[in-house]
Amino acid sequence: MTQTQQAPTASRLFEPARLGGLELPSRLVMAPLTRNRAGADGVPGELMATYYAQRASAGLIIAEGTTPNAVGQTYPHIPGIHGPAQIAGWRRVTEAVRAAGGRMFLQLQHGGRVGHPDTSGHVPLAPSAVRFPEPLHTPGGLREAVAPREMTAEDIRSTIADFADAARNAVEAGFAGVEVHSANGHLLHQFLARNTNLRTDEWGGSVEGRIRFTVEVVRAVAEAIGPERVGVRISPGVNVNGVDEGDTEEIYPALVKALADVGPAYLHQVHAAPDQAAFTGIRRDWPGTLIANPALTHEEVAADGGRLRGELLLAAGADLVALGRGFLANPDFVERLRTGAPLNELRPESLMYVQGAEGYTDYPALER
Ligand SMILES: Cc1cc2nc3c(=O)[nH]c(=O)nc-3n(C[C@H](O)[C@H](O)[C@H](O)COP(=O)(O)O)c2cc1C
Repeated sequence: MTQTQQAPTASRLFEPARLGGLELPSRLVMAPLTRNRAGADGVPGELMATYYAQRASAGLIIAEGTTPNAVGQTYPHIPGIHGPAQIAGWRRVTEAVRAAGGRMFLQLQHGGRVGHPDTSGHVPLAPSAVRFPEPLHTPGGLREAVAPREMTAEDIRSTIADFADAARNAVEAGFAGVEVHSANGHLLHQFLARNTNLRTDEWGGSVEGRIRFTVEVVRAVAEAIGPERVGVRISPGVNVNGVDEGDTEEIYPALVKALADVGPAYLHQVHAAPDQAAFTGIRRDWPGTLIANPALTHEEVAADGGRLRGELLLAAGADLVALGRGFLANPDFVERLRTGAPLNELRPESLMYVQGAEGYTDYPALER
């Protein structure tokens, strides 16, 4: 264990807040964290219910990236939300979280070109046939990525409909809402970025063309379940998973303004920092709730879990703060931050994306 370096003080992090129709007991949100603990069929089991229920004291849990249709699956053992068994599995999770006093959104994640036929059974779909540059984990081990198939107008239409259906399924499974994943190099981000979207039709080309898919997915999801149940995750300037946005400073002002017209409950910015142009621009242009997720160093996670960085973001105008690894390692993370109790040490990377309870549900809570 490492000792936190801050004395506990009153903090806006622990104030209640409203989000859409929800009352949150604090401004601390558990960021979506892929953990590969679902069955091979994408069905969440008891272990996932235990893990999330342990973390129910979060102001809000945003559950891990979950596949809205079969072709969108990224890696083995990623949960899905497009079939009855998956909906039933998630229902057990949301019931366990509700019984423990928590609230939950579900992140809808379509991998686009981040996917492999050996995993999903399908050639991946993407805005353009630009291959993912690295090998991908599959059930048979690491495999070279294959070139994705460029989506037709019909593929685009049906994928948007799949997001709307997945959102309805999530509500049926007991989630308070969904977060549309338009960050970190997945399908929606592939539409935004210049190096992965080479299209010349209305879904590509200009900034207006490249933001269209994200806007239309969010619109369809909002129409399906109500805008107050919808959030959107974005990662301006974060070129992970091989995306290179190109014109970041033009994409996001246009995207944020277009999303404001659709009116989802929140925007969730990854790698947010108080004096960063992307953050201050979004805060200026976005009238709704803004969740900020700072990019912490390993040392910051160990030192205070992100409390200081979170407070600075609230002071700079964020409404809620999302933290990932602190919640991963501490089932009672909010209480530990509030009281200044020591934090558990994060277990090795080799336990992050594997099956089983080790490094998952066996992080201890504080003794009472
Ligand atoms: C194990 C792990 C899994 C992650 N899975 C997802 C995911 O499914 N969706 C997503 O948008 N971000 C994912 N992320 C990114 C986190 O949501 C978060 O942005 C990142 O961990 C930075 O927050 P932190 O510094 O508080 O950990 C993941 C990060 C980690 C460490």
